[in-house]
Amino acid sequence: MKKILITGGAGFIGSHVVRLFVNKYPNYQIFNLDKLTYAGNLANITDIEGKPNYTFLKGDITDQVYIDSIFDKYHFDGVIHLAAESHVDRSITHPMDFIFTNVVGTAVLLNAAKKCWAGDFANKLFYHVSTDEVYGSLHNDNEFFTENTPYDPQSPYSASKASSDHFVRAYHNTYKMPVVLSNCSNNYGQNQFPEKLIPLFINNICNNKPLPVYGKGENVRDWLYVVDHARAIDVIFHTGKLGETYNIGGHNEWTNIDLIKLLCDIMDKKLGRNAGDSAKLITYVQDRAGHDLRYAIDATKIKRELGWEPSLQFDEGLNITVDWYLQNTAWLENVTSGAYQKYYEEQYAGK
Ligand code: NAD
Ligand code: DAU
Repeated sequence: MKKILITGGAGFIGSHVVRLFVNKYPNYQIFNLDKLTYAGNLANITDIEGKPNYTFLKGDITDQVYIDSIFDKYHFDGVIHLAAESHVDRSITHPMDFIFTNVVGTAVLLNAAKKCWAGDFANKLFYHVSTDEVYGSLHNDNEFFTENTPYDPQSPYSASKASSDHFVRAYHNTYKMPVVLSNCSNNYGQNQFPEKLIPLFINNICNNKPLPVYGKGENVRDWLYVVDHARAIDVIFHTGKLGETYNIGGHNEWTNIDLIKLLCDIMDKKLGRNAGDSAKLITYVQDRAGHDLRYAIDATKIKRELGWEPSLQFDEGLNITVDWYLQNTAWLENVTSGAYQKYYEEQYAGK
């Protein structure tokens, strides 16, 4: 039996990865390590609680003593590292949180894996999940991020992710640690915390609140359905080449304002409102500091070498996502009120 440590499995993408691995690989023991910050919510994975091949560990990746202790206890064969502070706006107001979790936390995990595996790297793997934001901002329509695009991070978030990527590659180069990395574009789908564009705007439309569009809304993002990202992580974990990086993207670029108008149209139909009602909530606000203009991934390497490509068209994925939020109002109320955090504070008091 393989023992796989997945970090950040109570978050948005991590919960989809944990679900996929627990259900698809009953012969693996999956350990989900999560600090349960504001972004972590065990309600995201209630469907796999109690499965015999699943264990939840509440802990902080920056705590070297704790992380060493779980490696000593379980001797993980593989790590899929997703735990991070992930929201760019929060990185602008609280950069140190990003430096501790994303940089120090990644180094702590690398050190624990290196110590536990003690140079015997047979059948071991450290998979680091990263972002396209490390490449900076594109300014020409015909440019795309490839695996060879030089790093040029522009926000404290992307600088912290870039730094963690460098540490992972450095441990491969220096200690021969078996690693693989992926850099993915913007994800959307079920269970995304409503601070990110799509769930925030769905929630605001439902509540007739303003839709704060940063700047002129002309920034471009490449959107990928979260379950397709989880599928890509599965493929890379099992068939990616050691030391390699794979870019993951949706071939699906939208300016923010076009995406927001599309979302408003979908919401009008779903909520039985008159066409144009939701779009009246659009409010242009001050731009994000240092706002990257455009991200766009060239995902030919992963398609050519590992056979992965997105499975869902955007309108299909967006409809599934909107339906999920409209049907899961209790989840949304819990996370917007913070009630879920009080529950975990009590449940894990003193642990
Ligand atoms: P998220 O914010 O939804 O979830 C992060 C999870 O990490 C939460 O469950 C949180 O509790 C946990 N966590 C945070 N700090 C921790 C710590 N110190 N110790 C243990 N757990 C901790 O993030 P997400 O959007 O699911 O992103 C997951 C990963 O994927 C991140 O590494 C992010 O950089 C990367 N990524 C995200 C996107 C995207 O569009 N969301 C795109 C590409 C890459
Ligand atoms: O590209 C991958 C990255 O995508 C991930 O690494 C990050 O973890 C993830 O948060 C996401 O970063 P973005 O900053 O692109 O996502 P966000 O949803 O915050 O914003 C998407 C775009 O919408 C961006 O151009 C900013 C804009 N925006 C966002 C919010 C929250 C608005 O105009 N108004 C808003 O209120």
